[in-house]
Amino acid sequence: MIGYVSLLIGYLLGSVSFSYLAGRLLKGIDIRQHGSGNAGATNTLRVLGKGPGIAVLLLDGLKGVAAVLIGSALSGGNPLVEVLAGVCVIAGHNWPVFFGFRGGKGIATTVGVMASLAFIPALIAGVIAIIVIAVTRYVSLGSLLLTALLPIFIWIMHKPTEIFVLSLILFVFAWVRHRSNIVKLVKGKENKLGAKKSA
Ligand code: G3P
Repeated sequence: MIGYVSLLIGYLLGSVSFSYLAGRLLKGIDIRQHGSGNAGATNTLRVLGKGPGIAVLLLDGLKGVAAVLIGSALSGGNPLVEVLAGVCVIAGHNWPVFFGFRGGKGIATTVGVMASLAFIPALIAGVIAIIVIAVTRYVSLGSLLLTALLPIFIWIMHKPTEIFVLSLILFVFAWVRHRSNIVKLVKGKENKLGAKKSA
């Protein structure tokens, strides 16, 4: 039962928005008022530069790893608690209790969670996403593809059902959070990596 405390811990951990904190600490701004308006690593890179962008990417990813590890430790390795802790940390990142429930899109944290629970599928999907981003310069396209590929690779590699279901939930989270990116991609108006900000 104590294991379920890790779900609250996961949500609170996810609610620590490193991109918001970076904006406040480094420039005294609310990152959600700049660039794409997203409180995530890509927009941190866009608005604050490479160093802060990479730092936020790593910290957001580590949040995901930490939540799963805490879930595992407090539940004695209960797979359901580990998976639910993963859902909670990403829910916290996307809808943070500390920042008016306006957070990020959860991709770096998704990578942290999935790398902890299904390393090889996450690695393959991650490499494909990085190649797509490098070629197209659209981070959102790589993010959408990553979350679409995860359930496929997890299914192919016969991972436990709860991890497959988790990957489907995270797919829905990511595509819902990327609604505006999808519209811009379709219209050819999406921000490209390296291009100057646009709303
Ligand atoms: O992970 C977020 C990324 O896919 C898109 O970010 O700021 O371009 O909306 P952004």
